[in-house]
Amino acid sequence: YKGDPAKGKLIVDQVCAACHGADGNSAASANPTLAGQHQKYLYEQLKAFKAGTRKNPTMMGMASPLSDDDMWNVAAYFSQQKVKPREAADKTQMPLGKKVYTAGNFGTKVPACMACHGPAGAGMPDRYPRLTAQHAPYIVKQLNDFKAGADRQNQTMADIASRMSDAEMKAVAEYISGL
Ligand code: HEM
Ligand code: HEM
Repeated sequence: YKGDPAKGKLIVDQVCAACHGADGNSAASANPTLAGQHQKYLYEQLKAFKAGTRKNPTMMGMASPLSDDDMWNVAAYFSQQKVKPREAADKTQMPLGKKVYTAGNFGTKVPACMACHGPAGAGMPDRYPRLTAQHAPYIVKQLNDFKAGADRQNQTMADIASRMSDAEMKAVAEYISGL
């Protein structure tokens, strides 16, 4: 891919670091960690915010002034940062969370998340985003956004999220946060 991480860092330091962390490891659980996320995925999300197809008032405002090159540059920078391992906050959610992540729910046709996002949440470049060490509240919000289909549209994830219970969402999000 094109994308100059040094140029990306200039934008990150001025604009994005406040919420996502200077190295892409965010402190606040509403803001996703971007460190180590696949470059093309990051670029596509920024394009979607700018186009208004992924709706979030904050991020639409952040993405709109970015040029196509800026987006590749910040995506290059964040993708090259190391994601810091985290521990799941609520260990009581681990049994159900692990079950959903590694095996899904046969009865309600929820597939194993692991099938696409990988056993350690690494995802797959160009296809599936990394989930490793992502904040649980952010994950729960995304699953609900996919399910509702208004702010974020993706057929695969909408089908999956719409079959999940609130309890499954919360549990799998906690499990993922500790991957
Ligand atoms: C989401 C990049 C600035 C708050 C995202 C995502 C990207 C991104 C790529 C999607 C992540 C994913 O799908 O996993 C950037 C860049 C920024 C920037 C490149 C600087 C130009 C900010 C700032 C804030 C912020 C300053 C806080 C004021 C958020 C929030 C989300 C988000 C809350 C989640 C949105 C949702 O729920 O869909 N950002 N960001 N970002 N960012 Fe930023
Ligand atoms: C995106 C969770 C299963 C394919 C995502 C995101 C989350 C998530 C939280 C958004 C990541 C972010 O915003 O950074 C889960 C969970 C699963 C699951 C909890 C199991 C219950 C799957 C499976 C597939 C898949 C089985 C493949 C068949 C995708 C794709 C995206 C995505 C393609 C990117 C969507 C986009 O571009 O907006 N998933 N996932 N996921 N997932 Fe899953």
